[in-house]
Amino acid sequence: MQEISKFDEQGKGITYVDNLITFVPKTIPGDIVKLKVTKAKKTYQEAKLIEIIKPSSKRKDAFCPFYYQCGGCDLQNLSYEDTLEYKKTNIQNILKKKDIFIEPCLIKNDHDLFYRNKIELKVVNKVIGFYEEKTNNIVKIDKCFITSKAINNVLKELEDFNIINGHITIRSNEKDELLIIIDSQDKINIDIDKLNKHHKIEGIIVNKKCFYGKSYLMEHINGIDFKVSYDAFFQVNPYVASKLFELIRANITKNDKVLDLYSGVGTLTLSASLKALKTTGIEVIPNAVKDATINAKLNNLKANFVLNKVEEAISKIVLDYNTIIIDPPRKGIAKQVLDILMNHDFAKIIYVSCDAQTLVRDLSILKNKYNITKLYVLDMFSYTYHAECLCVLTLKDK
Ligand SMILES: C[S@@+](CC[C@H](N)C(=O)[O-])C[C@H]1O[C@@H](n2cnc3c(N)ncnc32)[C@H](O)[C@@H]1O
Repeated sequence: MQEISKFDEQGKGITYVDNLITFVPKTIPGDIVKLKVTKAKKTYQEAKLIEIIKPSSKRKDAFCPFYYQCGGCDLQNLSYEDTLEYKKTNIQNILKKKDIFIEPCLIKNDHDLFYRNKIELKVVNKVIGFYEEKTNNIVKIDKCFITSKAINNVLKELEDFNIINGHITIRSNEKDELLIIIDSQDKINIDIDKLNKHHKIEGIIVNKKCFYGKSYLMEHINGIDFKVSYDAFFQVNPYVASKLFELIRANITKNDKVLDLYSGVGTLTLSASLKALKTTGIEVIPNAVKDATINAKLNNLKANFVLNKVEEAISKIVLDYNTIIIDPPRKGIAKQVLDILMNHDFAKIIYVSCDAQTLVRDLSILKNKYNITKLYVLDMFSYTYHAECLCVLTLKDK
């Protein structure tokens, strides 16, 4: 019998077995549990929850029947308010380790269920689902409580496609229109007319080729229309994305010349362009850059987009800008890009991140030149341990 004493930084419970730190997924502080050690290393152990002997007073029943097998959500055993408290304290603790002390402003998700506009499913031997936590086994999924209802409704049709092995990604928008993206070498079978009787299928892409309809969806957020190609990034939670885009606009002023690094289909660039003097985005995915250019025209907004890797393009254009927006992938800011941010005097940097660890790693360097003036923690990924952060940095006085 073990008592879970606290959370780790990835939403797992921590206990000590024979004085060795032991991480137990799907447990929370205060739970008294029976566990089984699954991995024993010299300095730590991993364990599996076998039985809850006495639940923590904070424990809630998970609303998803797949919760204990699926590797998707971490925190369904807490109330929504308690997941927020965990995320805020967790980020503060990660920052403290690098001597960064700032009170974050927490931004809630007003749609904490059925919020995701994208699901990525694996198909193995005709079983369609998600990976089980820490294994290569597939958990068959026919409902996902954090994914949009339009996507949930189409899940039951997927078995008819006759895919034996491969990947299926489904995206939806606010009008419940769907884009189905399939990667598989199998001979697939799709009855479009039958599908369209109950679902709004905008397009189907098979092995990167358009098989039916369009290869993009239209999104509409804060009065701006966005064309989003099947292979372009878009924030997975449109409700919190709206708050993120509004925060970008609110933190830009009329004299800002904005360079938006890792710009995708131009969501942050165009939100900034509503107020800035000039805006340019840099992005590496060709379709995303084409979409961004179309999106600027579609909305009568002024912005340019450069197709290139940020680390290759930035040094040639950086001198024309006084403000940086940077929203990199999970691995954070590339070393060459960080060097440029440190070797130039930008009045303001707005750093948007979906990974607290790499954000803090990069902030621990940037704080030597820039003041960390604001931190927003946005609950973009409710019931997972992840959060989206927006951090505003301003140049220190010399
Ligand atoms: C987290 S997304 C942000 C996109 C955009 N800011 C938004 O909110 O929709 C990161 C983007 O960086 C792009 N990307 C990844 N590596 C890159 C690189 N080396 N240079 C330029 N863009 C890159 C990805 O294609 C993706 O669109």
